[in-house]
Amino acid sequence: MIKRNIKVFDNQTRANEFLLDLLTNKIKHKLIKNIGLPTGSTPIEFYKLFANKVNTEKIDVSEITTFNLDEYYRLDPKDEQSYHFFMFKHLFSKIKFKDNYFPKSAKYDSQIKAAGGLDFLILGVGNDGHIAFNEPGSLKSSQTRIINLKPETIQANSRFFKSIDEVPKKAITMGLDTIFKAKQIVVLAFGPAKKKALQSFVNSTKFNSQLPISALLNHPNTMILTDQKL
Ligand code: GLP
Repeated sequence: MIKRNIKVFDNQTRANEFLLDLLTNKIKHKLIKNIGLPTGSTPIEFYKLFANKVNTEKIDVSEITTFNLDEYYRLDPKDEQSYHFFMFKHLFSKIKFKDNYFPKSAKYDSQIKAAGGLDFLILGVGNDGHIAFNEPGSLKSSQTRIINLKPETIQANSRFFKSIDEVPKKAITMGLDTIFKAKQIVVLAFGPAKKKALQSFVNSTKFNSQLPISALLNHPNTMILTDQKL
């Protein structure tokens, strides 16, 4: 029997507040050493709330190491479109973790393993059901690797660039296996554009490579937070 833990909230802020309580309680109880973090427009409000709470309540994050999910391939970390830049702007400039890592090569998996694995992982989801940059077609056993982005993803992400031609065609991403090994996963999926992928997830009973988020179906501790009635 597949158990899906999907929590529907009135709006995105309510969902973010739920995640904020969950995560900060775990941090206060020293239950998190390594955390996986996403980019995209989805986590921006959460990062703002999180940074505010950490600073206001003086929550100690100095022993926590962050591992980002993905990065555009060969984009300078100083480039304003890079995920390095995004994370610095929205979170790392506001609160200081022990270390902040991004995937650079296949060694990322052994680096995460050597650090003790991911205790907590926050994920967004692409309109086509991709997680991190694991595009449709990704294997459940996939590891950190370079991936060719699908035209739909390049199109969707072009809203952050001056023109679609500037969007990198490749990215480096944590694999589905890397993601599945996280002890606890919370997926954030807001707005009607995500509804189709979520509905397909609800209707899936086994992994389907065309719907990468379905890799989470048998994960022992995954929760999806959404504002969409499914
Ligand atoms: C990109 C990122 C994903 C993210 C997705 C959704 O493709 N690689 O990690 O989940 O976009 O982005 P948004 O939150 O902007 O909808």
